[in-house]
Amino acid sequence: MTSDVEFRSVSKVFGSFLAVDDISFSVPRGSFFSLLGPSGCGKTTTLRMASGFEWPDAGDVVIAGQNMHNVPAYARPTNMVFQRWALFPHMTVTQNVAFGLEVDRRPRDEIARRVGEALELVGLTALAARKPAQLSGGQMQRVALARALVKQPKVLLLDEPLGALDLKLRMQMQLELKRIQREVGTTFIYVTHDQGEALTMSDQIAVMNRGRIDQLDTPQAIYDRPATRFVSSFIGNANLIPVDILDSDDTTAKVALGKVTFTSAANRKLTGKSGVLSLRHERIRLGDEAAACDVTASATITDAIFSGSAITYVMTLEASDAILTAEAPHDGTTAPQNVGATIAIGWDGDATTTFGDDDV
Ligand SMILES: Nc1ncnc2c1ncn2[C@@H]1O[C@H](COP(=O)(O)OP(=O)(O)OP(=O)(O)O)[C@@H](O)[C@H]1O
Ligand SMILES: [Mg+2]
Repeated sequence: MTSDVEFRSVSKVFGSFLAVDDISFSVPRGSFFSLLGPSGCGKTTTLRMASGFEWPDAGDVVIAGQNMHNVPAYARPTNMVFQRWALFPHMTVTQNVAFGLEVDRRPRDEIARRVGEALELVGLTALAARKPAQLSGGQMQRVALARALVKQPKVLLLDEPLGALDLKLRMQMQLELKRIQREVGTTFIYVTHDQGEALTMSDQIAVMNRGRIDQLDTPQAIYDRPATRFVSSFIGNANLIPVDILDSDDTTAKVALGKVTFTSAANRKLTGKSGVLSLRHERIRLGDEAAACDVTASATITDAIFSGSAITYVMTLEASDAILTAEAPHDGTTAPQNVGATIAIGWDGDATTTFGDDDV
């Protein structure tokens, strides 16, 4: 696979603070690639080094096969979409989108054609004559996107572009962005601290933690098989429970949770006596459904929280007094459990991952 953007051992220091710490990754051409991580982990800094607004202190950034060492932002085949999308308020939608092409002195009929196509792509043809003040947040975001895409960059860099939108609109725009990316086939590098956003849209996600990449993989692989404790707690909802380690090889660990023993997945051979088990909330089966699991136990429900499409149960595991949280779909297929009841619960060993005590 041809890669469009490649970071080779790139670091960035601000004063004495190492904001980006020796990261390497490569983004396949035409893919949707996300940098995901908590505030301050170095996402924007990484994106700015791709765009040329920031320079690495070490390492190389290669875009479309060319080393970007000494290549200024305006000469790079990239374009950036920001969280605050800063449209020109006195210009119409059409004029906003056309602006970059006019700066480039493209012929008038070419500008009209390309702007028309870009507005069509983002679904704004009917609003072409409006000014930004007459648009909703989601529509302004589409203008910003059209303005970036009309320049036909090889790589589009997006820094939390949906951050200012409300939740419903954000979810709608996520699907829309993914459709647009597929349609134009441009490589997207998307920065977000919202795991749902990254999981929904990306072909690949790099999970960043304190300036480093903890894991780079497909959304499903990251969700199902977290490489670090940080990833397992940052993405999705997981129980992180202390366990005894009875045995381990390179890919599995035999663990004990009180009297319950089972085989869990592991990312390496765990040599310590104790570790931490990651068990996702929705992987715990309750009541009758528990019988089909390869690990079964009994637990007493201490709290139940209703959230519409799901019910979250907090429970104490009988075998060890560990406190577990389980999420059951509220889809009419299973009866809700009562607080105070002691019920059967179960999970599959290979749905869990065990980390060593010394793992991050
Ligand atoms: N120009 C700068 N001078 C000094 N420190 C900086 C500068 N820019 C960023 N930093 C620091 O580098 C770290 C990474 O910043 P960055 O903006 O890349 O984080 P981020 O992952 O984008 O966070 P957020 O999700 O909050 O936008 C932060 O601790 C930040 O304070
Ligand atoms: Mg940022």
